[in-house]
Amino acid sequence: MIVNEHIEGYIDSLIPDLPDDLRDLEEWALANGVPIIRKSMQQFLKVILLERNPLKILEIGTAIGFSTLFLERFSRPETEITTIEKVEMRLKDARKNLAGHDRIRLIEGDALTVLDNMVLNHTERYDFIFLDAAKGQYPEFLKPIKTLLNPGGMLVTDNVLLEGSIAESKFSIERRDRTIHKRMREYLYELTHSDDFETVILPVGDGVAVSINKEK
Ligand SMILES: C[S@@+](CC[C@H](N)C(=O)[O-])C[C@H]1O[C@@H](n2cnc3c(N)ncnc32)[C@H](O)[C@@H]1O
Repeated sequence: MIVNEHIEGYIDSLIPDLPDDLRDLEEWALANGVPIIRKSMQQFLKVILLERNPLKILEIGTAIGFSTLFLERFSRPETEITTIEKVEMRLKDARKNLAGHDRIRLIEGDALTVLDNMVLNHTERYDFIFLDAAKGQYPEFLKPIKTLLNPGGMLVTDNVLLEGSIAESKFSIERRDRTIHKRMREYLYELTHSDDFETVILPVGDGVAVSINKEK
């Protein structure tokens, strides 16, 4: 936890309840150990969506579709959402949960390959990209994301502070977590030192990086 537990609990207590269907799905995810966006991140996304009004959204990391349905619910009625997931165990629930949602397109496969193909095929660009996938892969996602994000578009990256351990020395990180620690640091360094993006890192949820594509 990045923010003091007390404070996070207080902030969460102020967040309005979810609509019933999303609340049920959130409960199911939490009961079944599926990692989904936290309350504070949900509220953050809601405000950002209202402010930006994106018409084309790309999500990397669907899991069972909770955040996808959340993005659909709190975006404009004409907004289209493309979401990518590769793990069959998650896909079987995502297919079910997203069935009948015409504004959502679920792409099954490894996001790195999918993004590379999108770049190669010059498919549409997106106004808003939500990155919530394998943290160790974030640096590799950055190049295709830059190409796929519209000028002025926003990239929101979740879980960038790794429960606060991002600020610790690599020597105090458990050996098994060192690669993710190193790669997330690389990612944040690249994002914050890139000429392509302007980025702010905020201690919301597990840490969020908000980046704007500076291309005019
Ligand atoms: C934190 S979960 C996503 C949670 C979801 N955004 C939500 O809040 O409801 C991350 C998901 O990304 C998927 N994932 C990780 N790396 C991926 C990749 N390279 N391509 C596609 N999916 C990936 C995982 O299988 C996992 O389901």
